[in-house]
Amino acid sequence: MTTPIRIKYRPTFLSALTILLSLLGTGTLRAEPLDCRRCHSDSEKASVRHSPFAAGECSSCHQLAQDKRHPEQKEAIVLVGDGSKLCSQCHEALDTAKNVHGPVASGDCIFCHTPHSSPNDKLLKDTGIAQCLNCHENKFQQKYMHGPVVEGKCFICHDPHQSDNPFILKMGLPALCLSCHDASAMSGKSVHAPVRKGNCLACHDSHGSPYRKHLRKDFQENFYLPSTLTILPFVLTVMRRR
Ligand code: HEC
Ligand code: HEC
Ligand code: HEC
Ligand code: HEC
Ligand code: HEC
Ligand code: HEC
Ligand code: HEC
Ligand code: HEC
Repeated sequence: MTTPIRIKYRPTFLSALTILLSLLGTGTLRAEPLDCRRCHSDSEKASVRHSPFAAGECSSCHQLAQDKRHPEQKEAIVLVGDGSKLCSQCHEALDTAKNVHGPVASGDCIFCHTPHSSPNDKLLKDTGIAQCLNCHENKFQQKYMHGPVVEGKCFICHDPHQSDNPFILKMGLPALCLSCHDASAMSGKSVHAPVRKGNCLACHDSHGSPYRKHLRKDFQENFYLPSTLTILPFVLTVMRRR
């Protein structure tokens, strides 16, 4: 994260400007800056409070529009930046990797985060799978679900913002799978080709499926017989499907 240098210097800069302008008698700025906290509470009771909000630095995000009076006039208070520009004053840009998540690319940071305070960690509006289902179809109710998906831990595998890996995954495949599953079970003397190549998703769905072991197709218990011939028809079906 970048240090909020601009914020640090703004008050001094602003007060200098105010004094200068009042000396010139232009009257475009109030001699006394509007104290937001006189009328608005800065003590929302939520457990997680955004640091500039808690510090009463309302002006790092809000400002009084020129020639308008608040609260007498509508829309007199405006945000100092649109979308992610508001946040990138202090936070690193989150759209620099190869793959950027849709709402991050469009600057909808406050779709997932609250700007002031929240009962949830990381100022999130929702937790677990709920925050994803606001936009994504619920394909996560199959008969056989993958452990971390059941627990709603979408972020164990996906980065919420961006990644150089496809599908904004935190790691490539099969490293991602092998970060939790025993690699030794897949590195014996004779390893089935798609397994060796790490193409786990040729056979398993990453989230869940109607079949045991969340396989993409129904399969018999003796699937892992040593003979390649036993599984050849299945592999061919999979390859044809891709
Ligand atoms: C935190 C829960 C959550 C997860 C996990 C999640 N999304 Fe998305 N997501 C999108 C959009 C838009 C796309 C891009 C769709 C496209 O390109 O077809 C996308 C794409 C994705 C992709 C595919 C990325 C790719 O490179 O193909 C993944 C994975 C994903 N989202 C995961 C809107 C959202 C919104 C709406 C505000 C929310 C909330 C949201 N997404 C929450 C979530
Ligand atoms: C004199 C009291 C007072 C002060 C000082 C004040 N406000 Fe307000 N503000 C109000 C009232 C009253 C409303 C209208 C509430 C409503 O309509 O529900 C309001 C509404 C708002 C709104 C939402 C509607 C709109 O007009 O945009 C925002 C945002 C806002 N204030 C921000 C601020 C900020 C930021 C400051 C400090 C720069 C500030 N206010 C200072 C009284 C005040
Ligand atoms: C990090 C940026 C940021 C800071 C700091 C911040 N706000 Fe906001 N505030 C926002 C954004 C963004 C919205 C618009 C929320 C929306 O549209 O859902 C907002 C909305 C508001 C509203 C409209 C009603 C509401 O709560 O949604 C008021 C009033 C308000 N802010 C007052 C304040 C006051 C008072 C402070 C300082 C104690 C402050 N804000 C500090 C970003 C900020
Ligand atoms: C004026 C500077 C400033 C602005 C503008 C700002 N932030 Fe922050 N934000 C901070 C600081 C400082 C922290 C605390 C960092 C820390 O504790 O490491 C923080 C922390 C956060 C956190 C982590 C909270 C936690 O509990 O760990 C999130 C999420 C966040 N900001 C989102 C946003 C979003 C979204 C916006 C735009 C609407 C935004 N910020 C705008 C300064 C800012
Ligand atoms: C689809 C929902 C979503 C969107 C959109 C989104 N975030 Fe986040 N953000 C998250 C989640 C979830 C986390 C917590 C990730 C975790 O704990 O691993 C997070 C964490 C953060 C953090 C804290 C990082 C840390 O490591 O502590 C910051 C700062 C942040 N987001 C800023 C932003 C900004 C700025 C934007 C807009 C450019 C944005 N977010 C858009 C879901 C989102
Ligand atoms: C174990 C790791 C893992 C977990 C946990 C996980 N995903 Fe995925 N997800 C993947 C992989 C791998 C892909 C890409 C290949 C594919 O389509 O199966 C993917 C693809 C996606 C896509 C884009 C393709 C599509 O099917 O639309 C979305 C959206 C998505 N995941 C959302 C989610 C959500 C929401 C959650 C939490 C309920 C979640 N994922 C949990 C690994 C995971
Ligand atoms: C965050 C850890 C994690 C990651 C990453 C992960 N898994 Fe899993 N996986 C689990 C857990 C936990 C279970 C449930 C274990 C259980 O119930 O016995 C599971 C179960 C499975 C099962 C079914 C086992 C059974 O007995 O039903 C398969 C198959 C599987 N995972 C494949 C994958 C693949 C393929 C990937 C990569 C796309 C992957 N996993 C990534 C944690 C993970
Ligand atoms: C050619 C298809 C295929 C590929 C590729 C494949 N698997 Fe499997 N996997 C299976 C089948 C079939 C089973 C079920 C075996 C049984 O219990 O009958 C299984 C079972 C599993 C299990 C559960 C093991 C247990 O003891 O129940 C895990 C975990 C797993 N696979 C992970 C992976 C990972 C990680 C990869 C990629 C490195 C991978 N698989 C690649 C077909 C495949």
